[in-house]
Amino acid sequence: MHQQAEAFGQIVRSRRSMREFLPEPVSPGLITAVLDDAQQAPSNCNTQPWQVHVVSGSKRDELAAALIEADARGAFSPDYYFDMSDYPELYAGRAKSSAKARYDAIQVDRDDAAGRHKAMQLNLEFFGAPHVALLFMPPLGDSVRVASDMGMYGQTFLLSLTAHGLAGIPQTLLGMYADTVRATLGIDPQWKMLFGISFGYADRLAAANNMVVGRIPLTGSVTFHQ
Ligand SMILES: Cc1cc2nc3c(=O)[nH]c(=O)nc-3n(C[C@H](O)[C@H](O)[C@H](O)COP(=O)(O)O)c2cc1C
Repeated sequence: MHQQAEAFGQIVRSRRSMREFLPEPVSPGLITAVLDDAQQAPSNCNTQPWQVHVVSGSKRDELAAALIEADARGAFSPDYYFDMSDYPELYAGRAKSSAKARYDAIQVDRDDAAGRHKAMQLNLEFFGAPHVALLFMPPLGDSVRVASDMGMYGQTFLLSLTAHGLAGIPQTLLGMYADTVRATLGIDPQWKMLFGISFGYADRLAAANNMVVGRIPLTGSVTFHQ
């Protein structure tokens, strides 16, 4: 196989969502290298609509505290609607089996509501990651085109993290507290939050990071026409 293709395939397949990080910060140079890779993502008509807020250090701690407090108050303020109960069984079943893999890995029982809530709350502390990139977008039309650009950006960011020996996790959950994020960081309400990516050096030995969720075969997603 072509060497570049082999290296790319390895990066794509070794990227996984990590849910426990080491506290060591990533150097500013490395963060800039990742951001610079992500900036090369394609977008509709090259509009590059992403606005990215990278939060580290004491501001990161302040944001985590504000998110935990907002969660305790039930102060949900998502800019974009999300309800898993909308998903038909085909997709809900996949979500259930990936959740099961996750809770099995961290040994939280299916019926343990408190344990599950605690595991959910780890999202709000960025799973211990020293940095989080928060992805904002302008609300244009029905937002679908811009959101697809944001997805391109997010995956390029994640793959670059992997290529640099780092790791990350995309988190829709952070966007459930968009007002809290904007208030803490002084972001204008005209910018809408889609998701965040917590990132840093993964704790490779952590139970939370020792699970792999699979993928359906190509036949479930692709139709060839000739
Ligand atoms: C846009 C997006 C948002 C996500 N939001 C969350 C989240 O809020 N919390 C979480 O634990 N995982 C979240 N995930 C991670 C997915 O659960 C994960 O990507 C999926 O199970 C596949 O696993 P993998 O990334 O390890 O391949 C999100 C993934 C994507 C792409």
